[in-house]
Amino acid sequence: MPESKDKKGKAAQASNDEDAAKQKLTPKAAEALLENNPALKNELAGLDKDKAAEALRKMDISELLTGLAVGGKNQKDMASYKFWQTQPVPRFDEAAAAANDVGGPIKMIDPEKVSKTPDPLIEGFEWATLDLTKEEELQELWDLLTYHYVEDDNAMFRFRYSKSFLHWALMAPGWKKEWHVGVRATKSRKLVAAISGIPTELRVREQKIKVTEINFLCIHKKLRSKRLAPVLIKEITRRCYLEGIFQAIYTAGVVLPTPVSSCRYYHRPLDWLKLYEVGFSHLPKGSTKARQISKNHLPSVTSTPNLRPMEVKDIDAVHELLERYLKRFDLNQAFSREEIEHWLVHKGGEADREQVVWSYVAEDPETHKITDFFSFYNLESTIIQHPKHDCLRVAYLYYYATETAFTGDMKALKERLLMLMNDALILAKKARFDVFNALTLHDNPLFLEQLKFGAGDGQLHYYLYNYRTAPIPGGVNDKNLPDEKKMGGVGVVML
Ligand SMILES: CC(C)(COP(=O)(O)OP(=O)(O)OC[C@H]1O[C@@H](n2cnc3c(N)ncnc32)[C@H](O)[C@@H]1OP(=O)(O)O)[C@@H](O)C(=O)NCCC(=O)NCCS
Repeated sequence: MPESKDKKGKAAQASNDEDAAKQKLTPKAAEALLENNPALKNELAGLDKDKAAEALRKMDISELLTGLAVGGKNQKDMASYKFWQTQPVPRFDEAAAAANDVGGPIKMIDPEKVSKTPDPLIEGFEWATLDLTKEEELQELWDLLTYHYVEDDNAMFRFRYSKSFLHWALMAPGWKKEWHVGVRATKSRKLVAAISGIPTELRVREQKIKVTEINFLCIHKKLRSKRLAPVLIKEITRRCYLEGIFQAIYTAGVVLPTPVSSCRYYHRPLDWLKLYEVGFSHLPKGSTKARQISKNHLPSVTSTPNLRPMEVKDIDAVHELLERYLKRFDLNQAFSREEIEHWLVHKGGEADREQVVWSYVAEDPETHKITDFFSFYNLESTIIQHPKHDCLRVAYLYYYATETAFTGDMKALKERLLMLMNDALILAKKARFDVFNALTLHDNPLFLEQLKFGAGDGQLHYYLYNYRTAPIPGGVNDKNLPDEKKMGGVGVVML
């Protein structure tokens, strides 16, 4: 779906393939790449057709795919990242050099030497620590994000994280109030910016590291381009250092120094007509609305035997299965039992909180073993200025695992995932979602295209702060298409 709009997504995958890096594009390939990548197409739209084609042909494919080669924000070299060049992150030219590196911290931090006080803010603003257990403060954060958080390039859609989502995302096991950082206008007390972190553990190749997952960096539209983002990033870094956490993971659609991996967004229409009406999906040339609707039709019942919603009693089994499954990836999250419970089990009965996560397990009726599980979460988007629809209900594929992954039989794994994921689509449709999003991480390249997920124009870059490791594959090849040979890299889903 070249039509898709997405989260934090713009540029694309850093290819590990040295040959690809040296390759130049033929005119035909350039055209195909543009067709597959509307974000690039937009960026080149200002140039006349021949010039754009010529510019494209001259580019290295790998650069093109990381978005480093083209227009505007992606065109910067290291020197123009005035803030990021001062930070302990790898430079763009270090990626290849790190290829044989086991990986490790870039800078050793002495907590004793970390400032005990924040840097001053510009006149009229002050630091705040949000207390999200208080409904009013959760509401303030919700207001800031709902009107000022991530939009697509054409300002048609903006993320609309629900309050229950924020509760779930920011009060995960081990959460710290100090890592819910805000900036208030001194006079009006209004919350005008925020950044947050939660603690967790990652496995990066063989190393287990404690990290902060950074998310929800947001600045009020009226305060943009005033260099406030670096101040926020430095402040949360200081607060993490004080707690003895010296590494972080974060994702963004923009290219910063330097992605450790890049995945592409894919979108599976569940209510094609609505997606078409709101401008999320286009009518492909030569097709009709009726044909698109019937193409995206799903069965009404699931086909995985013994599939049922996950319950508290499944936590240990799912934990064990997911840990084994995730260890197959270079970059993965080392979940605790508590985290599994928090992230995957929807507890009914919290009457005032709407459901955020849906998890299902398949249980062998004889052995009672959990053989498979999958989950998805709800992240709506506001449809900005549309006469008929104001909200897009989007399901995002979250974690999943299957025993079939350990058989060593790729064909069997593919078949199993096709069935499980088709069931996920059916269940999401039943839960009234309009579209189902997934990235090219985990084993997703095995099923995305066959299950009629369309390629998005969004790319999600993964970053590690103060940690260097060789580039990790993002499930796409040098044409930015899902590729089974590029799997095994990213095993972390960021919200
Ligand atoms: C992202 C956002 C906070 C940046 O603020 P801004 O006012 O545009 O930029 P500022 O002048 O404060 O700071 C610019 C610096 O921040 C960096 N920056 C911009 N977006 C960034 C991001 N998503 N993550 C980390 N750094 C980012 C820039 O690269 C620049 O640093 P550089 O000089 O080293 O290149 C703001 O645009 C915003 O709130 N956007 C909507 C929400 C959003 O996109 N959040 C990020 C989700 S990943």
